[in-house]
Amino acid sequence: MKILVTGGSGFVGREILRQLAGLPHTIRVLARQPTALRGVEVHRGNILNPGSLAGALDNIDAVIHLVGIISEVGANTFESVHTESTRNMVSAAQKAGVRRFIQMSALGVRPNAVSRYHRSKWAAEEIIRQSGLTWTIFRPSIIYGREDLFVNLFARMSRFSPILPVIGSGASKLQPIPVEDVAACFVGAITEPRSFNQTYDLCGPERLGFVQVLDTILSVTHRRRLKLHIPLGVARLQAALLEFIFPKLLGKAPPLNRDQLIMLQEDNIGNPDAANQLFGLKPISFREGIERYLIPVGAGQ
Ligand SMILES: NC(=O)c1ccc[n+]([C@@H]2O[C@H](COP(=O)([O-])OP(=O)(O)OC[C@H]3O[C@@H](n4cnc5c(N)ncnc54)[C@H](OP(=O)(O)O)[C@@H]3O)[C@@H](O)[C@H]2O)c1
Repeated sequence: MKILVTGGSGFVGREILRQLAGLPHTIRVLARQPTALRGVEVHRGNILNPGSLAGALDNIDAVIHLVGIISEVGANTFESVHTESTRNMVSAAQKAGVRRFIQMSALGVRPNAVSRYHRSKWAAEEIIRQSGLTWTIFRPSIIYGREDLFVNLFARMSRFSPILPVIGSGASKLQPIPVEDVAACFVGAITEPRSFNQTYDLCGPERLGFVQVLDTILSVTHRRRLKLHIPLGVARLQAALLEFIFPKLLGKAPPLNRDQLIMLQEDNIGNPDAANQLFGLKPISFREGIERYLIPVGAGQ
């Protein structure tokens, strides 16, 4: 089959491309910048500009739509990158006669979600459900792996800082899942008829509070650090300042924003059973997962 992947240059996208490379599929990636991805055809285009999608879906059998952001910059708002991009891709798929559409969503999406990230992803799901295409929607919890920006951020921070920040109580639960498992579900769904028009939670076997996540990272890297709880009000002020400074003065996404703070205060948990069974995942503990790539003190750092 010929598959079009959007967001192929990202953390999850690169793992999906790696897994697809071992299968008898042909891959085209939609990218807005020149990309160093090897072994794939590249269509240069911006998902926010429908005109630039012309030809991107020619001769394509299935779309994997991954594009997403965690922080806004300029025209790249949650609504444009999640909702409008999905509208553009669905419309391009309909015009090109592509039937199969696999969508990256997120755990926690719902119509009246407090965070705009979740609301914009919910709106994208609604577009897919009403599209008449043969769709599958995946909703992962936090995804980790060798190249993630979450576990690695705190592991790196703990190398240099005696203190690690915890926003609020740090008690909200997450169900971290390895990127390899997420990618396996996307790749498996392409040809799995039982996944047609279904939505799956993608989450690991454990429900961990943020503090437990930090403790596991520290334990695996053999470090002891103080955890400093930052009151939510203070974190909100910091985030508001970063949201102003980064995009306006530096043209970059801020490292923390108020929408993320909203999500951090909610549990991000789901039921992994359906995806685990259908795609034959073998869940591993968070500790086992990060031991594959975090290097303990004294072992090379
Ligand atoms: N990572 C997680 O824990 C997690 C959890 C749940 C859901 N998700 C979802 O999974 C998806 C992939 O996440 P990720 O962690 O792989 O993110 P990532 O590493 O930041 O990758 C995002 C991808 O989207 C592309 N992109 C962003 N804005 C774009 C635009 N305006 N036009 C074209 N491409 C654009 C990026 O392309 P460039 O290379 O050009 O920037 C990149 O390929 C997202 O939809 C995210 O919301 C992630």
